[in-house]
Amino acid sequence: MATLCPIPQPPTFPFLGNITLVDLEVPLRSFFLLAEQYGEVYHLVLGGSEIVLHANFISIARQVSNDALYRKSFSRSLREGRLLAGDGLFTVDSDEPNWEIAHRILMPAFSEVRSMFPEMRDICSQMLLKWERFGTQLTFDPSDDYTRLTFDALALCSMSYRFNSFYERDMPDFTRRMSDFLTMSSRSGYRPAFAKLIPMYYKKEDQKNFKDAQHMTEVARKTIKQRREQPTEKPDLLNLMLEGKDPKTGAQLTEENIIFNLLTFLIAGHETTSGLLTFTTYYLLKNSACLQKSREELDEKLGPAEPTVDDLGKLLYLTAVLHELLRLWPTVPARSIVPKQDVELVGGDGDPSNPNKQTICDQEGPDYLPAHRYCASRPTCLGRRRRSLPS
Ligand code: HEM
Repeated sequence: MATLCPIPQPPTFPFLGNITLVDLEVPLRSFFLLAEQYGEVYHLVLGGSEIVLHANFISIARQVSNDALYRKSFSRSLREGRLLAGDGLFTVDSDEPNWEIAHRILMPAFSEVRSMFPEMRDICSQMLLKWERFGTQLTFDPSDDYTRLTFDALALCSMSYRFNSFYERDMPDFTRRMSDFLTMSSRSGYRPAFAKLIPMYYKKEDQKNFKDAQHMTEVARKTIKQRREQPTEKPDLLNLMLEGKDPKTGAQLTEENIIFNLLTFLIAGHETTSGLLTFTTYYLLKNSACLQKSREELDEKLGPAEPTVDDLGKLLYLTAVLHELLRLWPTVPARSIVPKQDVELVGGDGDPSNPNKQTICDQEGPDYLPAHRYCASRPTCLGRRRRSLPS
């Protein structure tokens, strides 16, 4: 017989809810600390919304990754993101028509991502050359350069645009604005509900965010204009969006939606990848045996030749290192979802027949957990080409 339990919740403060428990610099750390105290599933009131957190990597993640039972929820930071990325793929609701249309038009391009390898290698060699010239004496923080790397590579692959970040001392204006915008959007998700009543308090922040979004939108608009005036044959994502037709409806993407998607690729692809590279560098430097093994693999499989896209598949150890880093420090550590109907979540290892499981929480309203035991993978990152469309 299942044990049903109410969802635990730390004490709340009037108007503030549980915001005082969250370290806004690294919210993830607070969520894990709270999980140690309250268990893998607990309830928080943040930014005026009630949310249920599932701080469990495997069993609950599997249970809530079922598209048939859960749908993407529009968290406050996602809503803020719409100011910049509108109904681009990341901030569009999967019920909105542009999600399916853009998917059908863009899927073929993401299947061809291998053909963009020379562009990625080009940008990587800019970074490596810079590091080589630093010599062995200079101490530097590689994370800034990983941001440059991923931004430049994404812009080159998606719209054949060169930010040329490695030729500037400071971060390019666009990159800095995007980073500020994303930080502010994610922070605004934690603003207390009463903040809406005192908009003046956040006026400066909001105005800056609005200006940044406007600036970035203008850059994307100009890039499209330039491409229309000087067309190229290159099968980059921009061409595909400008020329592609939805095979099902024949519809084309509007200019507004193309702008949103160009900005989306930069948002979705840059921090995720640069974060992964930063964590990988940090952990390899701390684990000299793993670093040595990675080097040996590169020497053995690549030698002095320039790497090709086919070589990547040979780097089994390095691929495992990246997977391990995504497990240790996932650069997308959380997703917001809502159940489509009442469901029941199984605690512990997720196996309802295991007598050692910790809890089963049942939903009968907002104070109880949503429902069902099930597991299916729901890969969603378009960068991985695996999210499926409804037929
Ligand atoms: C380490 C690298 C990356 C990680 C960990 C990652 C992770 C994710 C995750 C977890 C989602 C799903 C979010 C949700 O369900 O709401 C997502 C969505 C998405 N990602 Fe990535 N991503 C990475 C790199 C990239 C790259 C390089 C691109 C290239 C453009 C990209 C484009 C996208 C897009 C467009 C979506 C939205 C897909 C949709 O809802 O249709 N990602 N990513």
